[in-house]
Amino acid sequence: MWTDNAASSASHTWAPPALHVKHVEEQLSALRSSLICAFNQLLDLKDLNTGVHSTRLAEWALHVAGELGLERESLADMEVAALLHDIGKIGIADAILNKPAKLTAEEYEVMKKHPEFGWAVLRQVPGMERASLMILHHHENFDGTGYPGGLKGEEIPMGSRIVSVIDAFDAMVSTRPYRQGMPIEEAVRRLVAASGTQFDPRVVNRFLPLAQAEMTSVFAAAGTSVTAVL
Ligand SMILES: [Fe+2]
Repeated sequence: MWTDNAASSASHTWAPPALHVKHVEEQLSALRSSLICAFNQLLDLKDLNTGVHSTRLAEWALHVAGELGLERESLADMEVAALLHDIGKIGIADAILNKPAKLTAEEYEVMKKHPEFGWAVLRQVPGMERASLMILHHHENFDGTGYPGGLKGEEIPMGSRIVSVIDAFDAMVSTRPYRQGMPIEEAVRRLVAASGTQFDPRVVNRFLPLAQAEMTSVFAAAGTSVTAVL
């Protein structure tokens, strides 16, 4: 029933539509940040996060995406995909995930499910549908030989093509309990060698200056020069 009290209360909470929309947008943005944070903690619990690396990966991804002209909204999706692309590994058994040796063909088939697991979770979150698609396709290859869809070239979302390059580079140079990280110059050579087959050449080209900067800082720390290896 409409009463004076209700009228007074309604007039008290009334805000111009533009302000209301801004408030809702801020709430959604805060919710989105909290969710990303919560998912990141899940990755930590499963020991799947690369820690400070994940922030650096997101920075690289955003830089490359910006250079390739992705729109502002897509950049937000790009950041989520870069941070959470392997969230589906939470659904993979530890015996496979942490196996300190080469996976059997059967184990590899199980491991290949992680992009679909990640997509299935993230797509349920309003506003993360496009990021979930980037996650679904982050192991597709530019020549169509990847998984899960066997998508080719431009069929693969740009965000997925960017994650693919950056994730591969990070995996190659990172030291794991069971193996030493590869020298950066060797990782760069492999990226260039797989440009056009595994990786989108445009993404590789835009990423190389970042890899080179990484190399420069490593070589600067070692007191040597980077020019000989590129
Ligand atoms: Fe992955």
